[in-house]
Amino acid sequence: MKVYLDNAATTRLDPEVLEAMLPVMADHYGNPSSIHSYGRAARSLIERARKSIAGILNAAPAEIFFTSGGTEADNTAIRSSIETIGLKHAITSRIEHHAVLHTLEHLQKTGQIELSFVNLDADGVVDLAHLEFLLQSRSRSLVSLMHGNNEIGNLLDLNIAGEICKKYDALFHSDTVQTMAHYRHDLQELTANFIVGAAHKFHGPKGVGFLYVRPGTKIYPYLHGGAQERNMRGGTENVYGIVGLAKALEIAYRDMDSHRAHIENLKGRMIQKLSENIEGIRFNGRSGDLEKSLYTVLNVSLPPSDISDMLLFNLDISGIAVSGGSACSSGTEIGSHVLNELQIDPERANVRFSFGKYNTVEEVDFAVETLANLYRKESVML
Ligand SMILES: Cc1ncc(COP(=O)(O)O)c(C=O)c1O
Repeated sequence: MKVYLDNAATTRLDPEVLEAMLPVMADHYGNPSSIHSYGRAARSLIERARKSIAGILNAAPAEIFFTSGGTEADNTAIRSSIETIGLKHAITSRIEHHAVLHTLEHLQKTGQIELSFVNLDADGVVDLAHLEFLLQSRSRSLVSLMHGNNEIGNLLDLNIAGEICKKYDALFHSDTVQTMAHYRHDLQELTANFIVGAAHKFHGPKGVGFLYVRPGTKIYPYLHGGAQERNMRGGTENVYGIVGLAKALEIAYRDMDSHRAHIENLKGRMIQKLSENIEGIRFNGRSGDLEKSLYTVLNVSLPPSDISDMLLFNLDISGIAVSGGSACSSGTEIGSHVLNELQIDPERANVRFSFGKYNTVEEVDFAVETLANLYRKESVML
């Protein structure tokens, strides 16, 4: 049996999305900036996709800008807002995705901003009173706090954080890559200036995403070039990717309630079965709390053991694909900056299970059984 439980890293393409993309790849090869019929056909596909995404998020089409994915959307929001508005201070947390953290650290290193970090509790929960304190004591700031943490699943209340930012006239960017298409975002309700999406996290294609910019938040482009995206992002558009992105978002919203119920059931089952079968198991951050974390992510901390170092390898050999921390930094040997921040005992192995709509109860049971067997064998050897 082969089991893919790494959906926070990326997801399988939905066949319906592929079906929508194939004719675009095959037939609509015109450059959307060309004025002839080939170009106009491609342009119309892009604008239809933009309109659909805007409609779903309760925004206007002119507020959606296509990018190459979550990283570029985050970089654009952060770098362009700081540069355009001349902000000298930013606030973030130490457990953001590197697309945010490394971008802000670069701006700090090059002397463009002063960077403050909001306090977190032992589970990585943002201290909103401290956010308010930081905002009170500084000039106008950019605040960048993610909605759902890709490693430990913690959720931030975007309404409360947004209201605090509004009160102090701060710009608010939220990395919503892990919640886009899994939770409903209504941009008439949210006060965020910027949110982002990456299609490959919700069964769309890789290499395409978008940035939402609230009207009135005027920023310069991040990628300079042609006049694409109304002068906001140079470069010929990824037409079939954009069509796939819109289709994936439409499907996600159409089926959200049933998929959410299915995935929540899988996560709940895994929490219960792992707790019953592996003594001393813990859940990192808030991921063990179904109410307070992403329903797609469960980050497990296993008791110290000789098999810790080889755990992901052993799971992979057994057919189970998971991550240890964030997949985006796998292979780098430095471990997870998020788990380091939470001061998880380095002797414990950590496994991130992340679920998607294609996973089944049988797969979850197989993963639990395999993991429990590895630990059982270990305790016999001891
Ligand atoms: C929270 C978060 N932000 C940003 C990104 C980067 O997105 P992309 O891979 O589309 O550049 C990821 C991807 O892992 C993510 O999980």
